[in-house]
Amino acid sequence: MATTAAAAVLFFSVVLILASPLVAASASAAGQAQELLLSFRASLKDTSGALSTWSPSTPYCNWSHITCTGGGAVSVALSLQGLGLSGDIAAEPLCRVPGLVALSLASNSFNQTVPLQLSRCASLVSLNLSSAAFWGPLPDQLAMLASLTSLDLSGNDIEGQVPPGLAALRGLEVLDLGAPRLSGVLHPALFRNLTRLHFLDLSNNQFLESELPPELGEMGGLRWLFLQGSGFTSAIPETLLQLEQLEFLDLSMNGLTGALPPAFGHNFRKLLSLDLSQNGFSGPFPKEIDKCVMLQRFQVQGNGFTGELPAGLWSLPDLRVIRAENNRFSGRLPELPTGVSRLEQVQVDNNSFSGGIPQSIGLVRTMYRFSASLNQLNGSLPASLCDSPAMSIINVSRNSLSGAIPEFRNCKRLVSLSLSGNALTGSIPASLGGPPVLADIHVSSNGLTGAIPAELQSLKLALLNVSPSTHLTGRVPPSLVSGALPAVFLEGNPGLCGAGLRNDGCDAPPLRNHQGLALAATVAALATGVTLLAVGALAVCRRLHGDTSSSSSSSNSKLVLFHPIKITGDELLAALRRDKNVIGRGPFGETYLIELQDGQRVAVKRLISSGKQTFRAVKNEMKILAKIRHRNIAKMLGFCYRHADGEVSVIHEHLRMGSLHDLIRAPKFTLGWNDRLRIAIGVAQGLVYLHHDYAPRLLHRDLKSSNVLLGDELEPKVTGFGVDRVVGEEAYRASLRSDLNYGCYIAPEVSCTKKPTHLMDVYSFGVILLELITGRPAEQPASDGSVDIVRWVWRRANVADGAAQILDAGISRTAQQGMRAALELALRCTSVMPDQRPAMDEVVRSLQLLYPPHPSPSPAPFTGVALGP
Ligand SMILES: *[C@@H]1O[C@H](CO)[C@@H](O)[C@H](O)[C@H]1NC(C)=O
Ligand SMILES: *[C@@H]1O[C@H](CO)[C@@H](O)[C@H](O)[C@H]1NC(C)=O
Ligand SMILES: *[C@@H]1O[C@H](CO)[C@@H](O)[C@H](O)[C@H]1NC(C)=O
Ligand SMILES: *[C@@H]1O[C@H](CO)[C@@H](O)[C@H](O)[C@H]1NC(C)=O
Ligand SMILES: *[C@@H]1O[C@H](CO)[C@@H](O)[C@H](O)[C@H]1NC(C)=O
Ligand SMILES: *[C@@H]1O[C@H](CO)[C@@H](O)[C@H](O)[C@H]1NC(C)=O
Ligand SMILES: *[C@@H]1O[C@H](CO)[C@@H](O)[C@H](O)[C@H]1NC(C)=O
Repeated sequence: MATTAAAAVLFFSVVLILASPLVAASASAAGQAQELLLSFRASLKDTSGALSTWSPSTPYCNWSHITCTGGGAVSVALSLQGLGLSGDIAAEPLCRVPGLVALSLASNSFNQTVPLQLSRCASLVSLNLSSAAFWGPLPDQLAMLASLTSLDLSGNDIEGQVPPGLAALRGLEVLDLGAPRLSGVLHPALFRNLTRLHFLDLSNNQFLESELPPELGEMGGLRWLFLQGSGFTSAIPETLLQLEQLEFLDLSMNGLTGALPPAFGHNFRKLLSLDLSQNGFSGPFPKEIDKCVMLQRFQVQGNGFTGELPAGLWSLPDLRVIRAENNRFSGRLPELPTGVSRLEQVQVDNNSFSGGIPQSIGLVRTMYRFSASLNQLNGSLPASLCDSPAMSIINVSRNSLSGAIPEFRNCKRLVSLSLSGNALTGSIPASLGGPPVLADIHVSSNGLTGAIPAELQSLKLALLNVSPSTHLTGRVPPSLVSGALPAVFLEGNPGLCGAGLRNDGCDAPPLRNHQGLALAATVAALATGVTLLAVGALAVCRRLHGDTSSSSSSSNSKLVLFHPIKITGDELLAALRRDKNVIGRGPFGETYLIELQDGQRVAVKRLISSGKQTFRAVKNEMKILAKIRHRNIAKMLGFCYRHADGEVSVIHEHLRMGSLHDLIRAPKFTLGWNDRLRIAIGVAQGLVYLHHDYAPRLLHRDLKSSNVLLGDELEPKVTGFGVDRVVGEEAYRASLRSDLNYGCYIAPEVSCTKKPTHLMDVYSFGVILLELITGRPAEQPASDGSVDIVRWVWRRANVADGAAQILDAGISRTAQQGMRAALELALRCTSVMPDQRPAMDEVVRSLQLLYPPHPSPSPAPFTGVALGP
């Protein structure tokens, strides 16, 4: 009744954003270039249809991934990175395209040798073949590309010598040969002739056998020099000190030896990052380092340096990181200039430092990590040690510290505190239960006495190691023992008692009265919080329903489609009114599954609290999302905007198999390990695309198994990202806080960090990986009281052979090794400390190593609708 009437009142303007056919009035040269490009495309396998807009009816300068510049003589740049391309590159027609100046084939999967014919692309200025699965030798012929200023072959499996002929490319400014398997000795001409270079990367070529050549000093314009992990031997040549323009110098993980030249640092006025770690350097560190006034990172760990760290280093105005662990440095740690210092990280473990911990460490506002374990530090712990609002990690274990553990009242961000192996006395302060994300406390091997405070029960992952401490007494707070805390971490404290311990009856009353009350009060407060939120959610639902059925006549909407799907505004509205179409509920509103007339299914996500964004702003964001093409990313098909209240409904492709969440929740989740691994790899690849390859770079921010759709042959597609861009940051954050159901996918630092990071997505991915490994839904209540799969797993991961309890018992034993490796990766991804999580591209590489060599995942057929007029 009201249904059709209401729909009719709504005014829909349908905008199809599609390339309209054009009569190409092109000059014959352009026509020829067009044909050459089309025959180049014909040689490629383009499974995601990224190049499907290349059509003879539009001028090639309008094709996607092609940029033309200049008026008369057009310069053409092809940017084909990250499109999932493979096939046998037809370089011959490509090189005949007039004015081809830039070619990027990076981040694809060509699985072939570098095409020799690329050397005919005579006008090329920039050639980027990085991470595109090229193998075999580095062809000499590339030396014919005389105009080249930038050559990137990094991340491939290139092997053999670096052809000395490349020295002919005298105009080269960027040369990136990182991570291949180059071998042999580098020809000195490469260094002598390439005097224009400002970026040189020869890193991770462990088969290179080269001394650092004195000719390095000739490359006076070098700003970035990356030679890490490449088998360089010898001492640092004196000539290196001439490179006055250096900003990044990384010589880590080589076989470099000897003392540094005494003037080291003197000329490096522009140096931002110095990494000499993991070599065999010895002797004192030159004082001239204090001339590096712009230095931000100082990394010399894992050498044999002796003497004091130069005093001037500690007060460099921009310095963020000092890593000097595993050396033989001695002397005192100096006080820092607290108002000025921007230090974030000081790691000096395993040296011979003596004296006290500087009072100023905790007063540097940026300080995030201080670790100085395994030294000879003495005196007491400064009460201000944790006063920096960023302080997250403190490790001063195995020193000679004495006195009591201070109250540490200001720790907001503390995650890990290691005080074990000192001579601390007194009791464990109750205030250690305060820091909201504290996960890890090590206080064993001290002279501590007294009880374990009940307040510690509130710690998120509750890993308290007090074994052995020998003088602790009293009842262990019950939730600390139930699975959370392996009893071994309490051993060696005969005075402790409680369930599960050798001494399980306690004579003393369980809790002192006021503690009991405090605890009860907390529980009550929590419970009210929950009910309040539930009521809030209900109210929102009512309002929503009220809106749709009354559909005031003033409201009008706009439907924008990026793909020609068969839906009208009326149908969309009608479908959104049927409850049976609801397939999920999120913090912003329901998600509906709609079957179109032609049988295609789409998912429509309503964002009811998107209030403030204008249609223009929403459309701009949507366009960005709509351009994403990746086989592991679900396509955004269009959206509907309601002017009256700014409500946005986003239309996505939907896949027949439903979501990973549905699959895991099904009564019997019996997927084999290889399939699970393939799903994980696909999801990870989708994220890599968002994080690294798509421009602008995107964060997902709401990754969970219900946002992973499964296509044919279980090829996963990630959906549900970009909501933050559509509704705005403020509304997004507010809703995140209210989404109790999916809290376990959210990284712990989210609540106390202003800026979202890709490491938060890595955490969410880790949770999905845990679901695949355990076969458990992320939010399923467990017998030990934990709801959150991360807690459930971490508790078991901390006990001997906990893995056996964690891995899905339904999976055959032959897969165990791979599952254990995946578990290790998932634990890193879900680390409470963001900086310990791997980046998604590393995750993909690690997972791919676990995938059996032959049955390679067959790409899902391209499911998109072809674009037509
Ligand atoms: C091609 O691009 C130009 C400049 O951006 C534009 O004016 C023209 O309309 C486009 N042609 C087609 C067919 O899209
Ligand atoms: C690369 O191609 C070879 C055959 O030429 C094939 O055996 C191999 O599996 C392919 N590698 C990948 C990663 O596709
Ligand atoms: C080559 O392409 C990759 C992927 O797009 C990019 O990360 C890299 O910076 C490019 N290399 C150069 C030298 O521009
Ligand atoms: C290095 O440059 C000189 C000219 O300055 C040239 O004669 C020589 O051939 C170049 N070396 C190589 C290996 O190309
Ligand atoms: C301490 O550093 C030395 C190198 O200086 C290294 O050999 C040793 O293994 C390190 N000890 C620990 C416990 O890491
Ligand atoms: C603290 O330092 C000790 C000694 O170097 C080390 O064994 C331990 O793993 C560190 N603890 C943490 C949590 O990093
Ligand atoms: C710390 O050790 C030094 C010797 O290394 C000693 O002179 C000093 O008195 C000690 N300080 C304390 C507080 O024990």
